[in-house]
Amino acid sequence: MKEVIHNLNPEKGVKIPTHIAFIMDGNGRWAKRKGQKRTFGHENGVETVRAMIEAAGSLGVKYVTLYAFSTENWKRPQEEVDMLMSLFVQSIKMELPNLMKNKVKLAAIGNLAALPEECLNELNEGIRETAQNTGLTLVLALSYSARWEITEMVRRIAQKVEVNKLDAASITNEDVVNHLDTSSIPDPDILIRTGGELRLSNFLLWQLAYTELFFSDKMWPDFRKEDLHKIILDYQSRERRYGKISEQVISH
Ligand code: FPP
Repeated sequence: MKEVIHNLNPEKGVKIPTHIAFIMDGNGRWAKRKGQKRTFGHENGVETVRAMIEAAGSLGVKYVTLYAFSTENWKRPQEEVDMLMSLFVQSIKMELPNLMKNKVKLAAIGNLAALPEECLNELNEGIRETAQNTGLTLVLALSYSARWEITEMVRRIAQKVEVNKLDAASITNEDVVNHLDTSSIPDPDILIRTGGELRLSNFLLWQLAYTELFFSDKMWPDFRKEDLHKIILDYQSRERRYGKISEQVISH
């Protein structure tokens, strides 16, 4: 473990990822294997959320994004949807003192208007209370899907074009970025998907263009700080070329 911490020391010039995004998959299967209801898996998943925030924060990671609920997840059995919504409310409420202590700033992306009122209120309260915190930013993707976000972006830009605030012929990459839900958030350096599936499931499709992808066979409730450290070490050994050749990449 000592070696891991040493290697992750930013003072040594080793790159610490600025932003880590997680697809927290496998809660349901984890619970089923234990002969429990799927919701038991989600409850236990909160422990891993806490562990990841602490581990990432103590390494100097600036942003953690969690795919907590997709637009497709609304199609799950109502009982599970209701349970997840209550779990979000409860977790935000319970974790708030901890977030304040660790200077974590809460943010959210997604179709938040679709959330039940209680959930939206708790979320807004959490965002308001933590707004001045200067540590890690925790971004919850709630009722989120990348295709929804991209469609919204197109709508926002089209509305500006309509009232001559933007010129259609000169729309840039930057204009697109500025009209996404993630406009104030840098793209993820690392994406981690637990649960053994090898797909992106409609998550941050624009933002993941140059992200390093990692897939873990562990179910989310079994994913530990040590697993995160191993992935970061692997990331540190990868060369990110962004389309250039190796000699052109200035390592920093
Ligand atoms: C995917 O596993 C997980 C979810 C849809 C919910 C994740 C939510 C939490 C861990 C609670 C987090 C709380 C906060 C405040 C962020 P799955 O149910 O798809 O698992 P399966 O693939 O095994 O069915």
